[in-house]
Amino acid sequence: MKITNVFGYQVLDSRGKPTVAASISLEDGTSHSARVPSGASTGKHEAKELRDHQSHLAEQYYGGNSVYLAIENINSKIAPEIVGLQSDLESVDQRIIDLDPSPDHSLLGANATLAVSLAAAMASAHAKKVSLARSFQPDGNLLLPMPMVNILSGGAHANRTLDIQDVLAIPVGAQSFTEALSWIVAIREAAASMGREAGKITHLVADEGGLGIPFDSMEDACIFVMDAIESVGLNVGIDVALALDVAATQFFENGLYHLRTEGESYSAEDFVDYLNGLVSNLPIISIEDPFAEDDWKSWAAFTSIAPKDLQILGDDLLTTSASRLKTAISERAANAILIKANQNGLVSATHQVLKSAQSQNFATVVSARSGETEDSWLADLATGWRAGQIKVGSTHGSERNAKWNRLLELEATEQTEFSRPF
Ligand code: PGA
Ligand code: ZN
Repeated sequence: MKITNVFGYQVLDSRGKPTVAASISLEDGTSHSARVPSGASTGKHEAKELRDHQSHLAEQYYGGNSVYLAIENINSKIAPEIVGLQSDLESVDQRIIDLDPSPDHSLLGANATLAVSLAAAMASAHAKKVSLARSFQPDGNLLLPMPMVNILSGGAHANRTLDIQDVLAIPVGAQSFTEALSWIVAIREAAASMGREAGKITHLVADEGGLGIPFDSMEDACIFVMDAIESVGLNVGIDVALALDVAATQFFENGLYHLRTEGESYSAEDFVDYLNGLVSNLPIISIEDPFAEDDWKSWAAFTSIAPKDLQILGDDLLTTSASRLKTAISERAANAILIKANQNGLVSATHQVLKSAQSQNFATVVSARSGETEDSWLADLATGWRAGQIKVGSTHGSERNAKWNRLLELEATEQTEFSRPF
């Protein structure tokens, strides 16, 4: 079915910051629109998000964060190339690559390219008369992902109440997505009451909907979440295990890892040992960004000594980039990759990175950003791509729950099975 119109416009994300939306109309009169997310603890190697800071288009009320340049690129450069094409994701993405062959999409802005690419994916599913998830896997059971859910927030998302960015819970023993989510909600609410009773909550809801509670150490934060799990009658390690997003780039300076709440600074070698002790002594089954985005040596050292079944997940390290994934595989610097479409800039290229990771036995976790919108396409991508795992933040905030709710809908309406990767 032919594309008849394409346009971009500015909307707000969950933090009140401008972001890019794009809409694609088809010859049957339908329109398909998508909004792009945006990060706060953004990796240096991510595709380039275009904002108006230095431009004459900068909107003063948004402090330079407006995205009119990116929108102008959609309307004046991308749209004329795409109108008249068939609504096929691969052909739309190829046209965008022809216009902007830079690996980081810095010519058009990765927020401009991704908005159009996502709208094209949705239009393409509509033309096939299937859901977005189903458009990627025509036959067989779709694979609903195991959620990895934020309970405590720190780092850049909660005014650094904790050095690390997230303590998360993974409902490894749940038999369905519906059951998994109900456990998580109970745990998060129990943790909120425990924090309130202790008079400790400073940010009731952080950027990703988690709780901002100050702790003296990572270990104390983990024990608090373990207590919350037990308080609702679930077994730590059997029903629900822990995961960390250390987001270590945020506290790596001059070759040292600075844990401010613990009042300690570690050399890279010592931080490898420190984290290995932590994951060996606690029911932590996944650790994200344990080291800084270019500290390959520590990643490789840690991967060689950490418990064999630990998931070592690269976010800022890998930035959903095919070439950085290749390096990680050859250096044995991780065993799992976080997949964020806006780190890459195109839907089909993001899918390609996920497929090459899976072919090398890397686990894949499709992830939202701290700046999200009400869109739920992420749930369909994770399911249709058979990622196996998803990370969306917590269970507060409609921008988070839109994704969980879409997974509940997929479980209720499509032929699915639930992924149990641990
Ligand atoms: P970000 O955080 O979206 O602010 O980068 C999410 C994450 O680190 O996984
Ligand atoms: Zn991360």
